[in-house]
Amino acid sequence: MIFHKKRHIALYGAVLAMLVFVCGCGKKEKTASDTPEYLYAAAGCAECHSLTSGDDDSGKIPLNTEALTEAQFASALRQGKLPDGSDMGDIMPWKYYARITDGDTVKLYEYYMKTAFPGEKISVGGALPAASPFKEDTSKTPQYNRGMYLVEALGRCGACHSPEEGGKPLSGGVYETEWTAYNITSDPAAGIGKWSSEDIEKYLKDGVVPGKGNAISGMGLFVEVSSGLLSDSDRKAVAVYLKSAAPYGGGEEKARFEWGEPYDGVNSLRKAMVRLDKPEDKDGAVLYNGYCASCHGFTGEGNDSAAVGGFPSLTHNSTVGASEPNNLIMVILNGTERTYGGKTAFMPAFSGELDDGEIAAIASFVTGRFGNPAVKITPADVKKFR
Ligand code: HEC
Ligand code: HEC
Ligand code: HEC
Repeated sequence: MIFHKKRHIALYGAVLAMLVFVCGCGKKEKTASDTPEYLYAAAGCAECHSLTSGDDDSGKIPLNTEALTEAQFASALRQGKLPDGSDMGDIMPWKYYARITDGDTVKLYEYYMKTAFPGEKISVGGALPAASPFKEDTSKTPQYNRGMYLVEALGRCGACHSPEEGGKPLSGGVYETEWTAYNITSDPAAGIGKWSSEDIEKYLKDGVVPGKGNAISGMGLFVEVSSGLLSDSDRKAVAVYLKSAAPYGGGEEKARFEWGEPYDGVNSLRKAMVRLDKPEDKDGAVLYNGYCASCHGFTGEGNDSAAVGGFPSLTHNSTVGASEPNNLIMVILNGTERTYGGKTAFMPAFSGELDDGEIAAIASFVTGRFGNPAVKITPADVKKFR
């Protein structure tokens, strides 16, 4: 009996030890999401900065050649002040970064010093300018609150996705004036209320969700430098928060991604040559056939559309189904390029090769066949985006 009991205890002890080992329970361990590197990624600083001091050839905004003190650094992040005390303007989303906690701000400073001024002494001391109030909602789960912190502070989704005025956070905004950063509230038609949590997590991870859309433009860059580098549990927290954030909508018939059926009419045009000297060749279907079908398919269903670097389907695609054709026109004019996990997704720019009339014809064909047929694009619309 005693023998058995002992064995039992020993076994129990071993199992307990394993559990502690596996889950790390009981120890307050430093998790990946606490490190300065991780915070820098979550805040997406690399969208604009190379974080080396002085000029480099990345085309990004160089930081000062002299190291800032901790208080100067914090007042850049929290008050939008340059080290000489002048205002830096609103390009850096400091109104969101102002909500980052003291602890995380200090870690971002550490990262900044380590990367931009390796070997130089960290200069701390003196009070930091106060953070903007950021209140956790104690009636909600820690996961929801973590999501709120990532969306409303560190990841500053609203810097692109919220209107500049009139409240209604995340109900749609602009990126670099021409691109639409869609409504990502939980509204089922205007927002992403019909996206599953897994869809949102996948989109933030690699920017490819067949049947919904790919992350191009500023979002492609954001996935590359920020959301694609988060932990799965942080992406899940963002999805949980977005799914329960207040919905804002306005009379949309269907969600952007719900439009469009594969089209087989264009198959008959396969052999047609695109001769631009002939006005009838400006017909959108023929142009689509000549310029787009090699990648997106004659039927518009794409090729290898589930992979980063594959070609997305244009049916059931936000960019094509949106009621504002901005992003559709912009991607045809400028193309798109981004890298994720060592793979590059690339679409060439057509602004040099095609004139406004030709791009309008292709875009209207694409919305008519694969998207929302009520959206028609005129040459004047295209001209506005040149
Ligand atoms: C959307 C673009 C953008 C993002 C994202 C961004 N910044 Fe900036 N940042 C700017 C601009 C623009 C300035 C002002 C440059 C000037 O006027 O000299 C600036 C200035 C600064 C300055 C002060 C000036 C200097 O050269 O030392 C610091 C420090 C800084 N950023 C750090 C950060 C950190 C850290 C992050 C991430 C938490 C970040 N920035 C994210 C655009 C951005
Ligand atoms: C630098 C600007 C920028 C930031 C920051 C940004 N986004 Fe975006 N986002 C965009 C743009 C632009 C699009 C449209 C991309 C397209 O057409 O493929 C977009 C698209 C999306 C979509 C797809 C919506 C649809 O209906 O297709 C989701 C979801 C999304 N963003 C979530 C987020 C979340 C969550 C954050 C913060 C963690 C965030 N974004 C931060 C610019 C941004
Ligand atoms: C060489 C291949 C190639 C050609 C040719 C091409 N595309 Fe693309 N296109 C792509 C790739 C790759 C992406 C996705 C990029 C990503 O995931 O970041 C894309 C993205 C798009 C998107 C955005 C999809 C989304 O999910 O947001 C639209 C719309 C689009 N293309 C339309 C067109 C049209 C119209 C033409 C013809 C004028 C065209 N493309 C020609 C490769 C191509």
